[in-house]
Amino acid sequence: MRTLVLRAALALSATWAQAALAYDFLGSESCQSCHPDAFAAWQASAHARARDVLSPQQQKDARCLSCHSPNEADQRTAQVACETCHGGGQYYSARFVMKDPELARLVGLVDPVEKACRSCHDDSSPSLKPFDFAAALKAMDHWTVERAKRAPKDGKGAKPRTGEGKRRFPAFARLAAARR
Ligand code: HEC
Ligand code: HEC
Ligand code: HEC
Ligand code: HEC
Repeated sequence: MRTLVLRAALALSATWAQAALAYDFLGSESCQSCHPDAFAAWQASAHARARDVLSPQQQKDARCLSCHSPNEADQRTAQVACETCHGGGQYYSARFVMKDPELARLVGLVDPVEKACRSCHDDSSPSLKPFDFAAALKAMDHWTVERAKRAPKDGKGAKPRTGEGKRRFPAFARLAAARR
């Protein structure tokens, strides 16, 4: 049954891959109804106003926008948005997909890792201090509360699903564990 569902998803995602040339971002507001706390934390963060700190002139400069609002030209989504880090939500943000970590990743959910941060937080960005990944992560925490909400339901504690060092594909992880 599960294989069937996955196979159907694969077939669909092949079709979707072509469609993905168009817009597959839904905008950060689309995540708000189901992730109100993550949204509030993001909205209070520098990422949510990364475009706004630019002058009107700079807001037309593609060089600045490449880090301060990288998806407004291709996806009509401004600032450093949820989907800039998590991937376009068109196919994963349906509730039944979101509840299935494997399927969600198959159709576009991305685990944001350090390398992704560094694509913007590099030597050319105007920070006085070198980028400290652990500290920067902590400063933008919007997942602790998400995991706390999940914890009582599965009774196993608030397990992280996304993030650095997490296994990208649970099925592969299970296989690897079985081999050990
Ligand atoms: C219809 C409700 C809904 C919408 C809309 C939605 N989500 Fe989710 N999301 C969920 C649910 C439910 C879970 C699973 C949480 C759980 O198991 O308790 C989830 C889980 C997640 C996870 C963790 C998944 C994992 O396996 O690691 C991320 C990241 C996430 N959502 C990001 C987003 C982003 C970004 C958007 C907007 C583009 C979004 N979600 C829109 C309901 C939604
Ligand atoms: C390589 C990615 C990148 C590019 C390109 C880039 N920035 Fe930035 N910018 C950043 C990052 C990351 C920060 C936050 C640095 C920090 O505080 O750690 C930042 C911060 C800033 C700030 C400070 C905002 C504040 O809240 O104090 C300004 C202003 C700014 N950038 C303007 C510009 C302008 C103007 C351009 C285009 C000429 C530009 N940036 C191009 C990544 C970039
Ligand atoms: C698409 C580019 C981009 C990516 C990817 C990105 N950032 Fe940023 N980040 C920025 C910009 C631009 C700013 C500055 C915005 C401003 O000052 O208004 C910023 C600001 C921040 C700040 C606030 C800095 C301060 O001194 O106030 C933190 C913390 C941060 N980012 C952490 C991260 C982490 C952790 C990741 C990876 C998970 C990440 N960022 C990924 C562009 C990016
Ligand atoms: C700058 C990149 C960035 C942006 C912007 C961002 N996130 Fe995240 N998000 C992350 C990272 C990184 C993690 C995982 C951190 C970890 O595990 O250490 C995460 C974790 C999450 C989780 C928890 C997943 C779990 O394990 O349960 C949810 C839900 C989520 N984000 C939703 C959102 C929503 C909704 C938005 C916009 C309102 C958003 N994120 C914006 C980088 C980002």
